[in-house]
Amino acid sequence: MEKQLDHSMLCEHSDENTSLNKILNKLVPMDKVPSKTLPYWSAEHYDLHQSKLFQSLSLEQQTQVIFRLNQWSLELIYFIEKFGLNYGAKMIELADSVEEKSLYTLFAGDEVRHRRLIEPFLLAGHPTDISIHPLLTALSNCLNSHSKHNLTFTIQVILEGFGLMHYQALQAGCKDQNLKHALTQILADEVNHHGMGVAQTKSVILSMAEKKQVIESSTEFTKSLTSANWVQKAIELTTGHLTKQQVNELKQDIKWHQKQSFKIEKIKSLTNKVGFGDLQL
Ligand SMILES: [Fe+2]
Ligand SMILES: [Fe+2]
Repeated sequence: MEKQLDHSMLCEHSDENTSLNKILNKLVPMDKVPSKTLPYWSAEHYDLHQSKLFQSLSLEQQTQVIFRLNQWSLELIYFIEKFGLNYGAKMIELADSVEEKSLYTLFAGDEVRHRRLIEPFLLAGHPTDISIHPLLTALSNCLNSHSKHNLTFTIQVILEGFGLMHYQALQAGCKDQNLKHALTQILADEVNHHGMGVAQTKSVILSMAEKKQVIESSTEFTKSLTSANWVQKAIELTTGHLTKQQVNELKQDIKWHQKQSFKIEKIKSLTNKVGFGDLQL
């Protein structure tokens, strides 16, 4: 695989016995998890208890679907937290004051802790496939090509604002008490990351070129957040291809369309929160 240096999601881990690893372990210890309550999130979390199709699967197939969804839920967090390394580095460089650089340095440190809180719970080792969710490609594009104001808005206002709601749902529905506690710790920091982004963005007056960038990347983010359909994908990987009728019924049962409308409304409210409502994303 070609090495991508513009974002840190695909950066490789060093061997466990290296000195760097030992120092990092001392500074940010990674707790061993004595036992895991699996699944971390049950069928209810994904609204699958309401799906006739899911209920018709064998117990083994249902377990496979839930395991895969659990795996992706954790891998998405892992990649987003890992993305925070290069995001922090870029924002430290772009920051205008000592205070702003200091906050982004602390921000990047938080993302290190978050990733290491999650790593012990991963279900299939360190993932390397960012195609699991279109949001991850949107993130790498955003970091690669956009201005500071656009990055603050898309990553801290939209993504982290949206992430708060997503993490809250994961925390509330988690059956494993240790993972639940880890998510509670992450949430406390993410409130500050989002708050910092909102404060920074509220005072900004965008140039025409920046407005264009904000609209482009926010549109890509919105599309990526609303186009993913993990539940359908997880079932198809277990049972094989679903007919159009089965897909429609599944989407109806798990309230897929309502959830997409809710996501769009949430993005609009985050946009209004910082006074960007006139951009009509
Ligand atoms: Fe984080
Ligand atoms: Fe964050």
